[in-house]
Order: sequence, then C-alpha cells, then structure tokens
Amino acid sequence: MAELFTPASLLVTGGAGFIGSNFIHHFMAVRPHCRVVNLDLLTYAGNLENLKGVEGNPRYRFVKGDICDGALVARLLAEERIDAVVHFAAESHVDRSIEGPELFVRTNVLGTQILLEEARRHWQKGVEQFRFLQISTDEVYGSLGATGYFTEETPLATNSPYSASKAGADLLLRAYHETYGFPTLNTRCSNNYGPYHFPEKLIPLMISNIIGKKPLPVYGDGKNVRDWLHVRDHASAVERVLTQGAPGRVYNIGGNNEWQNIDIVNLVCDLLDSRLGRGAGENRSLITYVKDRLGHDRRYAIDAARIRTELEWEPSYTFEQGIAETIDWYLANREWTEKVTSGAYRDYYERMYGNRA
Ligand code: NAD
Ligand code: DAU
Repeated sequence: MAELFTPASLLVTGGAGFIGSNFIHHFMAVRPHCRVVNLDLLTYAGNLENLKGVEGNPRYRFVKGDICDGALVARLLAEERIDAVVHFAAESHVDRSIEGPELFVRTNVLGTQILLEEARRHWQKGVEQFRFLQISTDEVYGSLGATGYFTEETPLATNSPYSASKAGADLLLRAYHETYGFPTLNTRCSNNYGPYHFPEKLIPLMISNIIGKKPLPVYGDGKNVRDWLHVRDHASAVERVLTQGAPGRVYNIGGNNEWQNIDIVNLVCDLLDSRLGRGAGENRSLITYVKDRLGHDRRYAIDAARIRTELEWEPSYTFEQGIAETIDWYLANREWTEKVTSGAYRDYYERMYGNRA
C-alpha cells in the first residue's frame, strides 16, 4: 500500500508506560529516519527502565512533563518541528478509576483537550502535513452479551470512570476534526499483553503472584471475557494507522482472541508449573475468588475488519507464542517487577485486595 503520510518528527505522550514504550521500540526500529520525542510525567505507571534500548540514540529525546502543561507542549511542538502526535498518556487502570475518578478526568479528558488545542495551533501555523493519533480502547463501547462484536459504528456506552474519560477524549478528538478540519486519527484496541506490562493488570499480576506464591485474586465468577492482543501487534497497527489511515476515521484493533479470565489464569498457572519446577496443578491452588469489580463489563470482542481490509494490517503473534514469551520475559526480568512495584504500589495493593477476599 502507498503511504499517505510519512512522519519526520513524532511527539509520543506516555511513552514510558506499557504500550507507549513498546511502540517507541517498534517505531524507532522500523522508521530509521524519524525522530521521536517522548513526553511523560513518570507517574507510578511510567518507567524509564522500559526504554533502556533507545536511551542514547540521537534520534530520541525524553522530556519529563505533564500533557496538561500547555506551554511545555507548545514549546516542544515548535522546537522539535513536530509533524505527528501519538497520544498514549493516560490513567489506564479501571480499578483505580473506581477508587478516584477525578484524576482520570484531569489526565484523560483535560489533558487530551490541552494537547489537541496546542497541536491545532501549531498545525495552523502552516505545518503542511500533520496527524494527531489518539490511542483509545474498546471499553468505550461498553459491555457485550454472549454474542456480537464491537464495530466502529457501535454506540459509545461507557460503564467505568476510566472508559467514560476515554470516550470523552475520543469525542473531543472528533469535535476537533469536525470543527477545525484538524487531521485526527482514533484507534480503539482490545486488551494488550506482553513485556513491560505493569503488574496491577490481570496477566502480569497473576505471573508475579504465582512466582511469589501469593493468592491469585479472580473477580466475581471469573467468566468475564477479554480479547487479548500482543502489545507489539498493537504497535504495528498504530504505525499502520498513522501512516496510512484516513484523517477523521476510527480504527478498531484486535486479534480475535477471546478468553474467559479464569481460563487465562489457569493457563498462566499451568505454564508456570513446569518453569518453576512445581508439581502439575500446584499453582492453580493459589486461585482465590474475590468480590467482583463494580460495574464490571462482561465481555469485550473487537471486529477488526476495517483495519484488516482497508489498511491490510494483520497481527503477527499467535496467543500460544505470545503468552509463552511473555511469561519467559517476566521470569528473566524479575528485578523489573521489583523496581516498578514501589512502596506506593504496595499501599495500593493492600487497599485493593487486603479486604476483598
Ligand atoms: P500505562 O498506565 O502503562 O502508561 C501510561 C503512561 O502515561 C505512563 O508512562 C504515565 O507516566 C503517563 N502519564 C500519565 N499521566 C500523564 C500526564 N499527565 N502527562 C504525561 N504523561 C502521563 O498505560 P498503557 O496500558 O500503556 O496504555 C496506554 C494507552 O493505551 C492509554 O491511553 C490506554 O487508555 C490505552 N489502551 C490500553 C490498553 C491496555 O490493554 N493496556 C488497551 C487499549 C488502549
Ligand atoms: O480493553 C482494553 C482495556 O484493557 C484498556 O483500555 C485498559 O487500559 C486496560 O487496563 C484493560 O482493562 P481491563 O479492565 O480489561 O484489564 P484488567 O487487566 O484490569 O482486567 C482484565 C480482567 O481481569 C477484567 O475482567 C478484570 C479481571 N481481573 C483483573 C484484576 C486486576 C481479575 O479478575 N483480577 C484482578 O486482580
């Protein structure tokens, strides 16, 4: 496919987080002529350890800062002659949004509006070719029953403060396109897994707790369904949308890979039995059913026909390969988990699970 847009200087927000850091590794490897500026506040979820491989690269610059700081954003856009923004920065954990919605509105809604506004002003000063790509989530579509899929036409129907804040950002993005003709792109991806995934999320939490022989907290009946995609496949999809997507358009991203939570947890337990030299079934005995998440969405499943047919994107990982590699990565990088689970994270874990059993 012919490329519609070839970025020369990219501003990535939230590039020290799970998906942002994987995206930067992918993008810098496959786009040797593009510069990447990473703006990240380094909240509990951002970690420069994730970016070790690109640190001294002259095409890469890290800036510690807040997307809500309009003056900083404006300065970076001008100074670095940015021609594309890929916006990952967000508060991303549903359980934390239930504990404290306000920060989600500040970062995800207000932060996106500030970025959009500064980027629009920069673009209107005469940048010839420009793109603003907002990374969003399948959670904006709400919850599915046993059948059916989310398409890009599915109405937004959010159920958590997190998803509501992401939908708010998506609607602002749409408004900037409709009102100002600003060249936006919007991706909505399903659950990611892979290296550098913060261990508050299901898969890395289970791996970390199994290694530590701690209880494995499964919410409710464990039968909620998520559609899992390897994070590097998400990165390649974002690159494809950035360079070939049509401005104003939304693209769902997913891998047709639905799993009930309890089946994922059992699988991770079994794959770790042999790797940790434990007996068959030993890790499953750690599974503990706990109180359900409030407003817990039952099922997510993405119809990714648009990106597959219009942009000819395909995922490259099978789940079998991806989950085995991910488990091996966590086993080989135990000190990474140690470093990112700081005192502040331990307090959160105590609050979240201490009285939940
Ligand atoms: P993450 O929580 O791992 O990382 C978020 C990053 O944003 C961190 O590095 C953090 O320091 C940074 N950040 C937070 N507030 C900031 C601010 N005010 N200014 C600058 N930086 C700030 O998140 P993730 O899982 O990598 O998700 C990245 C994006 O992808 C999010 O927008 C999320 O909604 C979306 N998404 C995630 C998934 C998933 O499965 N994790 C799936 C679909 C979409
Ligand atoms: O669908 C995309 C979304 O996926 C992203 O937008 C979010 O940023 C990302 O966090 C993720 O949201 P989920 O809520 O689906 O992911 P999480 O890993 O928190 O939970 C996955 C499922 O596992 C969900 O049904 C809740 C359940 N769960 C989670 C945790 C942390 C448990 O049963 N036990 C747990 O301890």
